[in-house]
Amino acid sequence: MKAAVRDRYGSVDVVEVREVDRLRPNDDQVLVRVRAASVNRADLDALGPKPAFARLFMGLRGPRAPGLGLDVAGEIEAVGPNVTRFKAGDRVFADLFLYRNGAFAEYVCAREKAFLPIPVGMTFEEAATLPHSAVLAVQGLRLRDGRTIKAGDRVLIDGASGNVGPFAVQIAKAKGAEVTGVARTEKLDFVRSLGADHVIDYTTTDYTKMGEHYDWILDTDSHHSVLAIRRALSPGGVYVTLGGTARTIFAAVLLGLVVSRVTDKHMGLLIWWKPFNPQDVATVTQLMAAGAVRPAIDRRFPLTEVVDALRWVDDGRARGKVIVLP
Ligand SMILES: NC(=O)c1ccc[n+]([C@@H]2O[C@H](COP(=O)([O-])OP(=O)(O)OC[C@H]3O[C@@H](n4cnc5c(N)ncnc54)[C@H](OP(=O)(O)O)[C@@H]3O)[C@@H](O)[C@H]2O)c1
Repeated sequence: MKAAVRDRYGSVDVVEVREVDRLRPNDDQVLVRVRAASVNRADLDALGPKPAFARLFMGLRGPRAPGLGLDVAGEIEAVGPNVTRFKAGDRVFADLFLYRNGAFAEYVCAREKAFLPIPVGMTFEEAATLPHSAVLAVQGLRLRDGRTIKAGDRVLIDGASGNVGPFAVQIAKAKGAEVTGVARTEKLDFVRSLGADHVIDYTTTDYTKMGEHYDWILDTDSHHSVLAIRRALSPGGVYVTLGGTARTIFAAVLLGLVVSRVTDKHMGLLIWWKPFNPQDVATVTQLMAAGAVRPAIDRRFPLTEVVDALRWVDDGRARGKVIVLP
């Protein structure tokens, strides 16, 4: 079977599509014929890797797992002897983060617990957009103690035009929030089309200096200091960041902890991420079924051109999700 692999760390150029052995499902594993996969920032981060300390988990000298791609949707082709939840032909989707990645391939093989059934009426492409980014959007709009956004809140999504942002904008709107989306100039119309009430062009305007205040700020890729962002929070406001450089991540963790302790504001990195948490997946699929959330698909690339797909996202050209089709 064909699969995207890389043998060393580096840029998008280390990725190639090669013939590799097709896996046999053992024990509680299922073999899934991939119908659609989608690109996430995390796929690009895994190449570097970024942040650099991720080598501690991924392999010091080179990647332990050669496969790439987290978001997958497809059909069960074969099941191992101890599989109880699925049978051949079932439509499933997954975030393979905890299962050695590998979505950019003709087949994936992982334990059955990695997968959930695709809801009736949802296409493979739609399902492939959800697992990583939509779940991060739900969890970035909620604290570990369950506190979340409510109707009337002023919510700012920094990085509204990428993978997580479009889901976050739509989810916040569905909950009745007044939503501001931050993106570069040429993507502002796209962010408006998602339902954002206001947009801010980060190439000309620093939202932390506008004198506006927000009840909840979700940041997909930190570009401001914690202290600057604190100025833009309403009393009791919340700031959650998903990622950034090693420096901004450490600052969010350490300074965020101090701010959260000594003020009424909560600031910090999402550190309790539950990949493909079934309750959060259900939240998104219900919002989709109600017509409140629609995956924004930017374009499609064949698996043989997965390097171009990764580069398209890496160059900041995508508006929403990029699909890879085997
Ligand atoms: N915390 C956790 O547990 C956890 C778990 C998994 C993943 N993650 C992280 O979550 C993040 C998910 O992000 P994503 O996939 O949505 O990323 P993405 O698609 O790359 O989006 C990043 C956004 O940042 C915006 N941006 C770029 N430069 C900017 C600037 N100077 N100021 C403001 N915005 C700027 C981009 O806007 P334009 O496109 O308009 O330029 C883009 O919309 C990744 O960093 C991933 O590593 C975190």
